[in-house]
Amino acid sequence: MMTNTICRVEYNDYINKNIKKMGISGIEHKREVLPGQFLHIKPGSDYHGLLLRRPISISDVLPSTGIMEIIYLIKGPGTAELSRLKPGDGVDVLGPLGNGLVLDDNVKNLLLIGGGMGVAPLLYAARYYKHLSLNGIFGWRDTGSLIPLGAAKDFMDRVYICTQDGSTGHRGLVTDIFCERVEDIRPDMVFACGPVAMLKEVQRLCTRFGLDSRFSMEERMGCGVGSCMTCACKIERDGNWQYERVCCDGPVFNGQRVVFD
Ligand SMILES: Cc1cc2nc3c(=O)[nH]c(=O)nc-3n(C[C@H](O)[C@H](O)[C@H](O)COP(=O)(O)OP(=O)(O)OC[C@H]3O[C@@H](n4cnc5c(N)ncnc54)[C@H](O)[C@@H]3O)c2cc1C
Ligand code: FES
Repeated sequence: MMTNTICRVEYNDYINKNIKKMGISGIEHKREVLPGQFLHIKPGSDYHGLLLRRPISISDVLPSTGIMEIIYLIKGPGTAELSRLKPGDGVDVLGPLGNGLVLDDNVKNLLLIGGGMGVAPLLYAARYYKHLSLNGIFGWRDTGSLIPLGAAKDFMDRVYICTQDGSTGHRGLVTDIFCERVEDIRPDMVFACGPVAMLKEVQRLCTRFGLDSRFSMEERMGCGVGSCMTCACKIERDGNWQYERVCCDGPVFNGQRVVFD
């Protein structure tokens, strides 16, 4: 069940150079929020470019207060406008939206793989699935683009961090560590979010290692609720492919079924 509400910004702080974490209270939701679900946020109302909502993943739901957190990169006009909001300001939020990650009972060992801003939804996955055996492999371009893991680190058995320039953690890509560690970790399922190039490689490796996977996908969005098809992505069904909507059929899809062109 999703609603459109004017909510309250509780905090909106820098956690890295161009990355902020915003805590929002007053988001109504009848069902439990699932990892991978997102908020569709109206950044402003003054001019055309800011009327379109921006989809941002829920990166945490704080158990004591119900505050939902988002972590966002200040990229263009929409996120720049969000970055100007102060504690106490109102923010127009539609959501939680989308189908999040639901695991079968037979999944006991979950591996989270995230790249860049794709790490954000995995932080909530760590809290939500903290009762499982959890490992994380997270990578960024460099220290300046890194997302601090915060409380999520405490929910995971092992966390591997890498940057492409080696400025923090291992030098290299998350998929290098995935290859090195898969035998020790022996996951039942991989949950991944990140750039397409990363997801493509995770998909190839999951096939090679015989692992089941779920990917949280990102596409440009219009309505966010299934009526405009802006967010279509190709999903394999019965040996063929069809377009499905990231906003309401996803954003979480069976990773082995995503068709990358
Ligand atoms: C399901 C989902 C979850 C997301 N979660 C996060 C998150 O947790 N943190 C984060 O920093 N970013 C996230 N994004 C990307 C985020 O929506 C864009 O970075 C943001 O909309 C950019 O808006 P802008 O006006 O600042 O930039 P501009 O680049 O000027 O955006 C112009 C238009 O393009 C759209 N757009 C631009 N980049 C993207 C993108 N990557 N995906 C979808 N639409 C885009 C915008 O919504 C806007 O309508 C997510 C996207 C999706 C689809
Ligand atoms: S954004 Fe309109 S159908 Fe998904």
